[in-house]
Amino acid sequence: MNTALFSTSSAWLKAIALGSLVLLTACERPPMESVQHGYRGTGMVQVYNPRILEDVVAANQVPAALEPASAEGPKAGQIYQNVQVLGDLSIGEFTRLMVAMTAWVSPEQGCNYCHNPANFADDSLYTKVVSRKMVEMTQHINSNWKTHVAETGVTCYTCHRGQPVPKEIWFTADSQPQGSNFIGDKAGQNSPHINQKLGSLPYDPFTAYLLGNEPIRVGATTALPVKGAKGESIQRTEKTYALMTHMSASLGVNCTYCHNTQNFAKWEGAPPQRVTAYHGIQMSRDLNLSYMEPLTDTFPSNRKGELGDVPKLNCATCHQGAYKPLFGAPMAKDHPELQALRAAVAATAMEPAAASPDDAPAAASTEAPAATEPAPATAAPAAAPTQ
Ligand code: HEC
Ligand code: HEC
Ligand code: HEC
Ligand code: HEC
Repeated sequence: MNTALFSTSSAWLKAIALGSLVLLTACERPPMESVQHGYRGTGMVQVYNPRILEDVVAANQVPAALEPASAEGPKAGQIYQNVQVLGDLSIGEFTRLMVAMTAWVSPEQGCNYCHNPANFADDSLYTKVVSRKMVEMTQHINSNWKTHVAETGVTCYTCHRGQPVPKEIWFTADSQPQGSNFIGDKAGQNSPHINQKLGSLPYDPFTAYLLGNEPIRVGATTALPVKGAKGESIQRTEKTYALMTHMSASLGVNCTYCHNTQNFAKWEGAPPQRVTAYHGIQMSRDLNLSYMEPLTDTFPSNRKGELGDVPKLNCATCHQGAYKPLFGAPMAKDHPELQALRAAVAATAMEPAAASPDDAPAAASTEAPAATEPAPATAAPAAAPTQ
């Protein structure tokens, strides 16, 4: 018997035991709670960690709504000099929204985060120009993306939570940070990043799917190989899993919240949440393309990413760990002015300081999907290939 081999393998065993101990310390401490989500016998349960859930609950509380304001009296557009979007609100409604926006976005900095205190009509602060676009974006979400946000809707608080920069934003990542070195194509992988829960999957699945429109497809859609089956490339498969990891983590759910894991690709038998998520992907892409990217010249360079792109949003920007943002609290109903799209009017007194495509916000709205129609997708989920 070769003892040398034997002792080497026991050294290996020790190393493995030590290694798994180190790995286990990174695991979440039991007990977990599990809740049935699919039909009986499908094993579609949701596993929750009650300790993590506590933090998510704390982060998803809703601030009290302000008293409603009277719609009587002169309109903001008649009294103020440079009101381009909210002109049809009464002075009372307009002021109420300004107070709410301050509480939602810049409670510490106050009105002056967006305003030049010497002249409230002045558009010289980029934050004000961005906010005007944000008002339009919020109205667009609430009126044209009901397929995703339903009647619950969103307000500035859904994303901002009392901070000028939302907690969860993303930039296009440099997929080959060291240039072309001898290691070959890094393909944006193998660097632990919170985007994919510190895994080795691609750390930027967003540029491909929440800005671009690459197919969200994998190499194999069945558990066992099927003769003649043709799947996607390994790179696309990895990016798809990275996106799915982000989606699960953003909502604080498992894969079975949206999939019948017997067949991930199949729409039939999958929970209805998958269709909502499908619209969520389309919506996030639309918001990044129609509202965030046009602000590229408005944002100062210190707010941009390493490649000079604007900050963008993903599922976590709104959801922040909850299956519905703020656990579905219908905050937007207290702000009817953020519900309907308002056609922007040209400034009466002064031109906006920033020469941005902001001048033509109507363009974004005309491309918007109709409220009751499914998202502007080439293939609606129902028409997606089932197998
Ligand atoms: C997060 C950014 C933001 C904050 C904070 C904010 N505002 Fe505004 N404010 C705006 C935007 C955007 C407009 C232009 C709206 C439009 O074009 O329809 C505006 C317009 C105004 C106007 C109209 C000025 C004019 O003559 O054209 C007044 C008055 C005003 N805000 C008051 C306030 C007050 C008072 C506060 C603090 C309680 C405040 N705002 C906080 C973004 C903000
Ligand atoms: C769907 C999510 C979402 C909603 C809703 C939203 N925002 Fe934003 N907002 C963002 C993102 C993403 C950014 C970019 C973050 C950055 O500036 O780095 C941003 C940036 C801003 C900024 C610039 C902050 C800075 O210092 O760079 C202001 C001001 C702002 N939003 C105001 C508002 C107002 C006012 C509303 C409501 C009318 C609103 N936002 C609604 C996602 C949102
Ligand atoms: C919030 C809902 C949601 C969660 C959670 C989710 N998915 Fe998905 N998944 C979707 C949607 C929607 C699509 C289809 C996207 C499309 O076709 O545009 C999809 C597509 C896929 C596909 C591609 C199937 C094909 O057609 O090739 C795979 C594989 C997949 N998901 C695996 C996972 C895994 C693994 C997890 C858990 C880590 C997960 N998903 C979590 C909603 C979800
Ligand atoms: C603009 C904010 C916003 C963004 C961005 C967003 N969501 Fe949502 N999402 C909501 C709101 C609001 C609801 C609640 C709708 C309701 O009450 O039915 C919701 C509901 C859902 C639901 C239904 C949950 C349930 O139990 O019925 C799923 C699934 C979901 N979102 C997935 C996603 C995914 C995946 C993404 C990213 C691709 C995403 N969302 C991006 C705001 C957002």
